[in-house]
Amino acid sequence: MPSIALVQFVCLCVLTSLVTCDSDVTKETLSSLQQQVQTLQAACQRQNDEHQEFKDCIKRLTVENHKQNERIEDLEAENKLLKDYLQSDGSQQRRVSEEGAGIGFSASLSTPKALGEHQIIVFDTVVTNDGDSYDPHQGHFTAPVTGLYAFSVTVMCDGSESNLHAAIMRDGQMIGKAYANGSSYDNGSKLVVVQLEAGQMVWVEHFSDPSGYKIHGYGHSAFSGFLIMAY
Ligand SMILES: *[C@@H]1O[C@H](CO)[C@@H](O)[C@H](O)[C@H]1NC(C)=O
Ligand SMILES: *[C@@H]1O[C@H](CO)[C@@H](O)[C@H](O)[C@H]1NC(C)=O
Repeated sequence: MPSIALVQFVCLCVLTSLVTCDSDVTKETLSSLQQQVQTLQAACQRQNDEHQEFKDCIKRLTVENHKQNERIEDLEAENKLLKDYLQSDGSQQRRVSEEGAGIGFSASLSTPKALGEHQIIVFDTVVTNDGDSYDPHQGHFTAPVTGLYAFSVTVMCDGSESNLHAAIMRDGQMIGKAYANGSSYDNGSKLVVVQLEAGQMVWVEHFSDPSGYKIHGYGHSAFSGFLIMAY
């Protein structure tokens, strides 16, 4: 871009060289040159203005770009947090479902049994034993994980005129009772929802003396339990 000073300098040189020439021609030429100089000056001014506008524009764009970069960094950080959260949440869910998958059992009594005091009732016929946590030889369920569990027991008297009292026990502590009137093949039942630590045991025991009370078998008396939710 030619600077105004340069243009003026060139014009001055031309004018100086014309000073000695014919006065009419010189006047005309001078006025034409003056016009050209003015035009050039105006053009120069416009270019200077435009140049300034470009500079301002670039400054604004640089600021804008800087802001955008900061926003991108923020979004990237946020994205990383969300990804981490989703991954940990996913693994948490996997962990619970792996440990808690299919923990549940149902077992019934095969034949009528005479029961002594505090005798554990061993429900020996397994219908379901997902997770293998119920022992059909000892009659206890052992919690494989800490969590919330449900247990149900039904006992039926064998008609020997003896009432039957059964208790659901958690590590020796009674958490539910079922009673059946012995005179009429009565059934007693109970459902309990209970928290268990991993390793705690639940079973059903007869808790009435004198001993000798009988419980009916052939699938009428049964014990079931399952994990509702692992903690
Ligand atoms: C057991 O049943 C018999 C006959 O139905 C009844 O007379 C008796 O009162 C009942 N006993 C109890 C404790 O409910
Ligand atoms: C107890 O339940 C059995 C079914 O398991 C049923 O046959 C019996 O009649 C019931 N006893 C009474 C008194 O309702």
